[in-house]
Amino acid sequence: MSVKFHIAFAESATIKGGLAIQLKLSGDAAAAGASVADPQNVATRAAGIAKFKGKAMKTLDIIAPQGSPADRLVVIGLGKGDDLTDYDWLRAGGVAAASVKGMTSVTIFLDAPGLSVNASQAAGFGLGMLLRAYSFDAYKTKKNDDEDGSPKQVEVTIVTADPQAARTAFAGSEAIAGGVILARDLVNLPPNVLGPVEFADKAKELQALGVEVDILTEKEMKKLGMGALLGVAQGSPRPPRLAVMQWKGGKGKEAPIAFVGKGVVFDSGGISIKPGAGMEDMKGDMGGAAAVAGLMHVLAARKAKVNVVGILGLVENMPDGNAQRPGDIVTSMSGQTIEIINTDAEGRLVLADALWYCNDRFKPRFMINLATLTGAITVALGSAHAGLFCNDDALATHLAAAGEATGEKLWRMPLGKEYDKLIDSKFADMKNTGGRLGGSITAAQFLKRFVGDTAWAHLDIAGTALNSPSSEINQSWGSGYGVRLLDELVRSHYED
Ligand code: BES
Ligand code: MN
Ligand code: ZN
Repeated sequence: MSVKFHIAFAESATIKGGLAIQLKLSGDAAAAGASVADPQNVATRAAGIAKFKGKAMKTLDIIAPQGSPADRLVVIGLGKGDDLTDYDWLRAGGVAAASVKGMTSVTIFLDAPGLSVNASQAAGFGLGMLLRAYSFDAYKTKKNDDEDGSPKQVEVTIVTADPQAARTAFAGSEAIAGGVILARDLVNLPPNVLGPVEFADKAKELQALGVEVDILTEKEMKKLGMGALLGVAQGSPRPPRLAVMQWKGGKGKEAPIAFVGKGVVFDSGGISIKPGAGMEDMKGDMGGAAAVAGLMHVLAARKAKVNVVGILGLVENMPDGNAQRPGDIVTSMSGQTIEIINTDAEGRLVLADALWYCNDRFKPRFMINLATLTGAITVALGSAHAGLFCNDDALATHLAAAGEATGEKLWRMPLGKEYDKLIDSKFADMKNTGGRLGGSITAAQFLKRFVGDTAWAHLDIAGTALNSPSSEINQSWGSGYGVRLLDELVRSHYED
């Protein structure tokens, strides 16, 4: 069911019907219902009967609690509560959102016995609610909600000690939610609707937030010598685009930080065509570009004090009489030549020119690229971690820490000359695949040949951006992975 939450913060609230939500730590047996929501301690009794102990993210749901002004009372467990991460507060908010069901008025009491919740945790809780509420139903013509299909409006009051501070922090949460939802929408959209040009138009819309956006056409890319990116695009009647976004929130002269996204709007494999089963998932092969667009949204919406460049390589990879062939040799913008072994290893070709262009034009402090680059990374890491490849230990450490804080986790993978030599080619400077073994590493080595000495990280998000397992804060196929991770990175290390 699609809902829209209007979230307000208050120091106290009087419940007049509706849903009341409170939190509970485990091991605090007597205190399940000791709050204004439950003057007669119905919850304590119910918890005893249901054997509800307050384990993390478990709920106790009481309908028409006797003696309470609430129509329903939900208690959310937080576990022991001594090592709650920022991500746990999002999850708790997600659980709260899932508990709302048909109610239209919700009052949430964050403080509980043994638990005093600060403003940023309260804002995180609200963010978790917004993220959980997302559902992609633009193409469902039969709405099972209200007759008109518009989302149900739900009034939420979060009761917390310092509502003013929570409100300020929550403005940042709303910026983040906007960016994550943008990324999810882009990944979920069908490939007939979202081509390279349409994606570039979505990037243009960020101008409304103060982002400068240039869209490079095929002609301009030809002039720049982007033979690697253009070779991928040539099999599709839909022309490629390179979206160049700039957010100038930092000091005038400060070099920017840069994010580059793989935006293959559909990856059929090209002439090295993929098997049919599951090919529809390749509409999500622009998850890297979606995350970069989402991040730019967040940074602009919260007016981040930093100079940022975001670049999207937007192409479609299709088989065609004019498509690139295995055996072709293309010349990248860097001047390096590439022998095409497999036209399905197209993401690295797109990124080769996008990374080189980014480095050449902007001289950034670092570049981070995000890409649904290899099936091999899903074999190695599943969907719980994205692969992290990095030539700079400090940047890798910052990224991994941001992953732990946000729950968008990263696992560092190796780089090395043993892997690099696997992509040397008999006929050109390099080839675009390095064989079956270590497939995500040789893909990373390929990218590394286009970043010079600039600090750089490659996040292989093939296992995390699409086909995502449901979580407390996401029920959507496209997760929006990377937006919260990189916002956290920027916020904690790179703002003035
Ligand atoms: N877009 C795919 C990788 C992918 C796989 C993304 C599954 C999301 C889910 C990429 O372009 C690709 O086809 N990679 C090949 C590389 C191979 C031909 C060297 C792969 O991983 O099989
Ligand atoms: Mn491919
Ligand atoms: Zn691909």
